[in-house]
Amino acid sequence: KKKLSIAIDGPAAAGKSTVAKIVAERLSYVYIDTGAMYRAITYKAIIENLNLEDEEALLDTLLATEIELLPSENGQLVYLDHKDVTKEIRTSEVTNSVSIVSKHPKLREEMVRRQQSFAKSGGVVMDGRDIGTHVLPNAEVKVFLLASVEERALRRHTENMQKGFPSDLERLKQEISLRDKIDSEREAAPLKKAEDAVEIDTTSLTIPEVVDQIMALVDERI
Ligand code: C5P
Repeated sequence: KKKLSIAIDGPAAAGKSTVAKIVAERLSYVYIDTGAMYRAITYKAIIENLNLEDEEALLDTLLATEIELLPSENGQLVYLDHKDVTKEIRTSEVTNSVSIVSKHPKLREEMVRRQQSFAKSGGVVMDGRDIGTHVLPNAEVKVFLLASVEERALRRHTENMQKGFPSDLERLKQEISLRDKIDSEREAAPLKKAEDAVEIDTTSLTIPEVVDQIMALVDERI
């Protein structure tokens, strides 16, 4: 069977990683969460007190930084310079700074180079914002996942409450909208549906329904 590349893009908290993980598991493909890479460098920049607007400083730091994505039972572990930062990169401090760091074209260029090398032998499901447009423009399957901001905030809120994390629905809505705005309006590789991507609005769909739609696209191409 052919080993495909599958690109899954879309706005914040649209369920990309949830469905990407399931699709990767079904196909025995590698799952690559590119957002985790931007989160990891943002986490390091915060710890090192870097100015998040200073592209050169961020790039120098990234060039001296190893980011590894390792498969695990429940998805993926993220290692920054050989230290497990899987949890640390999900804090609201990182979440609310990552779109600033991700604006910088030179930093993105280096990230894209790393992402393309992870994907070079195919058999990957990669999620992010610019996968179908820039990272894997030749991906056989491209999906753009959407959901209303209300629904996305509510899903994140429910998830936080289940994990026992403090959570404020209105604030989540604002944070998600702001992140989408910065990600869509930036100059370099903005969040945008690739022309040949299939749009799936997940607002009133269950996770298995979204997975089935993606698997149907895969079956057409495999
Ligand atoms: O996917 P996740 O929400 O974890 O991504 C965090 C942030 O990383 C996004 O809001 C965006 O600023 C940035 N990102 C990006 N390009 C990608 C993946 C993520 O700019 N391919």
